Amino acid sequence: METKMTRNLPRVASLLTGIALAVTSTFAVVANASELDDANTKALAQELAPARAQHLAVTWCSSCHGPGGRSVNPIFPNLAGQQKDYIVNQLINFHNLNQWETWQAKNVTHEGYVEMWFKDITGWRKPYTGYVHSNDYKSERTPRNEEKAWDFMKGVARDLDQPTMNALAEFFSKQTPAAPATGEVNGNITHGQSLFLNGDPAKGLLPCQMCHGPSAGGQGSIPRLASQHADYVYQQLLAIRSGQRQIDQMAALVANLSNQDFKDVAAYVQSLK
Ligand code: HEC
Ligand code: HEC
Repeated sequence: METKMTRNLPRVASLLTGIALAVTSTFAVVANASELDDANTKALAQELAPARAQHLAVTWCSSCHGPGGRSVNPIFPNLAGQQKDYIVNQLINFHNLNQWETWQAKNVTHEGYVEMWFKDITGWRKPYTGYVHSNDYKSERTPRNEEKAWDFMKGVARDLDQPTMNALAEFFSKQTPAAPATGEVNGNITHGQSLFLNGDPAKGLLPCQMCHGPSAGGQGSIPRLASQHADYVYQQLLAIRSGQRQIDQMAALVANLSNQDFKDVAAYVQSLK
């Protein structure tokens, strides 16, 4: 018995090698095919993104954010002239919050969800994992979880793929910013200016301009605040202080500011070009 097994070993081994080779080469073919699909899909998505973004911006985003992203209602932030990277980050945040909720509700696996989502938006067979931020799926600390943002933007960001988000951000970042608002101001602009430019050491506040820039233009992933609606800025500051909107860089800094301080600094940034 032992001898027989030993004698058969080389044959078993070569059989196994044969299977292994066959399996490997099948995988090699499949891998090539899927790389090809992914490459084609990505190229197509990239190519169509600017046109899709412009269409969406005009027909959809503008219905809330105003023509060219210059909104007339302070519930809706101005997007015109906003930093490109910042817009992309917010869209990804809205998108991921939405996916996580849907995924939980349907009780499907992560991969299953990615595939469903991919089919929904493209009709293509292959899951488009390259553009899905899988690491962000189950975010314990969601950076943009305030209810208002959630209610309005989740449907909007659900079906946006990464190239379209980039193109939307490119589009809005290039629009002429809204003129400084001239409406009623509920804050003391002079005090707001002092908080923005000098901070308030007694309250542990570093100058806002340190990050948002001396004229509140923002940079990269830090948002432009100049000419943003005062009431929107005020609402965000409340959400940041309460932790409802999680911004690590800011939460501790504004912890000791009063609601009136927030109104003052909001009135100041709204007045800037
Ligand atoms: C139904 C109304 C509505 C539509 C349509 C809409 N948005 Fe929004 N959007 C909002 C609201 C409301 C907020 C602010 C939420 C909050 O209070 O945090 C917002 C916030 C945003 C923000 C974050 C801005 C900031 O300063 O942090 C971005 C970026 C954004 N929207 C992009 C878009 C894009 C791009 C589209 C079109 C594809 C779009 N929105 C369509 C209502 C809308
Ligand atoms: C240490 C850097 C830093 C300082 C100082 C800082 N911020 Fe920010 N702020 C940020 C970052 C980063 C974000 C964007 C985070 C994100 O992606 O959501 C932000 C976001 C904001 C937003 C949300 C804007 C929008 O469009 O939704 C407001 C409003 C804001 N900051 C106001 C202020 C004010 C007012 C001060 C001073 C009282 C201040 N910030 C000080 C880093 C800073």
